[in-house]
Amino acid sequence: MTPVIAARGLTKTFGDLTAVDGIDFEVPAGESFGLLGPNGAGKSTTMRMVGAVSSRTAGDLRVLGLDPDAHGPEIRSQLGVVPQEDNLDPELKVRENLIVYGRYFGIPKAVCAKRADELLAFAQLEDKARNKVDDLSGGMKRRLTIARALINEPRILMLDEPTTGLDPQARHVLWDRLFRLKERGTTLVLTTHYMDEAEQLCDRLVVVDHGRIMAEGSPSQLIRQYASREVAELRFGSDRNADAAARLEGLAERIEVLPDRVLLYTDDGEALLERVTDLGLHPTTSLVRRSSLEDVFLRLTGRSLIE
Ligand SMILES: Nc1ncnc2c1ncn2[C@@H]1O[C@H](COP(=O)(O)OP(=O)(O)OP(=O)(O)O)[C@@H](O)[C@H]1O
Ligand SMILES: [Mg+2]
Repeated sequence: MTPVIAARGLTKTFGDLTAVDGIDFEVPAGESFGLLGPNGAGKSTTMRMVGAVSSRTAGDLRVLGLDPDAHGPEIRSQLGVVPQEDNLDPELKVRENLIVYGRYFGIPKAVCAKRADELLAFAQLEDKARNKVDDLSGGMKRRLTIARALINEPRILMLDEPTTGLDPQARHVLWDRLFRLKERGTTLVLTTHYMDEAEQLCDRLVVVDHGRIMAEGSPSQLIRQYASREVAELRFGSDRNADAAARLEGLAERIEVLPDRVLLYTDDGEALLERVTDLGLHPTTSLVRRSSLEDVFLRLTGRSLIE
């Protein structure tokens, strides 16, 4: 089966800056695919090239089998796009935002109206249908933008940082809606710098940094490949972490010293904590957890994803 998106050597430069540096990836139909990376990694630039709103500098790109340089309108009519910054029309009421957007695609008014009602129900915004966009909370605006992106029944839904800036509860409501779309078989392409979001929603993801792909796989594959089963997080106090880490050398598969804590990668965190105490070291706090994509990112880039 041909993938719905195929990129080879995809590159975008802005003057001297290489924002996307020759990346290769493929997305099969029905997959939930993620680009995980920090600020400035090139995620939005990649999304804009796939969305046929920005042309590539070099490389090859096919979206739904078509070249975006030659078939922009045809591709755009089959995509749903949730941009990083909400661009809802504040002049229009909530329901009108959906209908007017659908009309841009040449969808008949009666069809738009019917879909708008279904999508408002899906986005849990039925009781806001006649409100102004500015009356909505951040999470509601995001849900409305997703509803709007679905009005043309797209084959691929592109979401650029769907939950950035939302509180935890609003993020969970949004994840639930996106999970339902995934269950229905909608192809999702999303960017995020939240590893928990990537773990929740992505079947497969690429870790990007400085315009390059650092690793690719399912969340569990990446964790298995780049981290140990568990991590012990120890805090000795900011000015003592480095000294303590030096004394812990050899105790774990790998040790990372962060400004506020020491991370020890191991298969058995509790056993390791006992050996730390046996050495006469007493951290002010200690915590054992499963490894996550955050640890994968740290391993790959030497930096933490959280600012
Ligand atoms: N239109 C543009 N003109 C010049 N430079 C740009 C333009 N768009 C993006 N860039 C630069 O390209 C790089 C990648 O930007 P991009 O927005 O793709 O990153 P991102 O991964 O989406 O980051 P964020 O997480 O902050 O949204 C950055 O250094 C950015 O400043
Ligand atoms: Mg971005």
